Amino acid sequence: MGYGTSLGSVSPVSIVGNSPVIKRIYELMAKVACCQSTVLILGESGTGKELIARSIHLHSERQGRPFIPVNCGAIPGDLLESELFGHEKGAFTSAVATRIGRFELADGGTILLDEIGEMPQMLQVKLLRVLQERSFERVGGMKTINVDVRIIAATNQDLETAVKDGRFREDLFYRLNVIPIEIPPLRKRADDIPLLCRFFIDKYSERFGRKPITITEEAAHILACYSWPGNVRELENTMERLLVLKDDNIVKPSDLPERMTGKRIPELPDIDDDDTNPFVSGVDLNAALAGYEKRLILHALELHRGVKSQAAKYLNINRTTLIEKMKRLGL
Ligand SMILES: Nc1ncnc2c1ncn2[C@@H]1O[C@H](COP(=O)(O)OP(=O)(O)O)[C@@H](O)[C@H]1O
Ligand SMILES: [Mg+2]
Repeated sequence: MGYGTSLGSVSPVSIVGNSPVIKRIYELMAKVACCQSTVLILGESGTGKELIARSIHLHSERQGRPFIPVNCGAIPGDLLESELFGHEKGAFTSAVATRIGRFELADGGTILLDEIGEMPQMLQVKLLRVLQERSFERVGGMKTINVDVRIIAATNQDLETAVKDGRFREDLFYRLNVIPIEIPPLRKRADDIPLLCRFFIDKYSERFGRKPITITEEAAHILACYSWPGNVRELENTMERLLVLKDDNIVKPSDLPERMTGKRIPELPDIDDDDTNPFVSGVDLNAALAGYEKRLILHALELHRGVKSQAAKYLNINRTTLIEKMKRLGL
């Protein structure tokens, strides 16, 4: 393979990445794979939460048993209960036959409770009991069912805030948050972008029986600087689209979607407008702009690992102008 570090001796799913954060995640995954503890995977949509959950399962002693993902956010509350725990015949009008739920299907294996932050309160209580006792009843059932299931939960929400706001049970949060794995967004591990591009180009050129494409240095630079709000999923789709739509094999900046090539103006920083203080009124424009300028410059430098010529190019200014500004701002 050679895209990144493979986890252990077998690599049944390919997780690509060589950045220090991803390497730390590989180490953590190798450790948690061999224990039964509950894992909570945190990260924005498209960062690879499901991929990592599946990989943990495939590296655990449960690998020969089912891996059952459930998207708790996609199923309405009343249906979710019977989806997870099953129901007995006649439990409700449409329950014409007994149905086995996902927890029973996952027996001996692993269940992934995806978008756990969306789980309705009523089910949070029932889930807490499963976490504590590994037992539950089917909807409309009397018999207690015991299962041996490893639980992995995932979310793109900030669960601690959800707990503070009373949307998520605190006791459940602590039960789930035994081993947290935080996957940073792609824009915070830009080192991995070229590897991921290569990986998906190879994947789709093989799948479609097409010659791989080459990305020019300029286009690669744009891809590396783009913010990737949809993370790896967005990158994968972008590479697939390029492979399908390109007639020649060279990707130039003009082949990339406009959202990547258009100059973005990053969000304004919070204005420190202390309206509780009667002596402070209005904003000091010059100080605010200098603060904004400083932040943008630091951002550009960080993105390009301190290489001033590249940071200047990103900011659309000359290298000498950048150096002057840095001096003036005390950077
Ligand atoms: N590090 C990675 N290496 C290879 N493929 C990845 C990586 N991270 C994510 N993917 C791919 O990106 C897509 C989205 O990942 P997924 O696990 O569904 O994200 P999430 O569950 O966080 O939304 C999937 O096709 C997945 O295989
Ligand atoms: Mg997902």
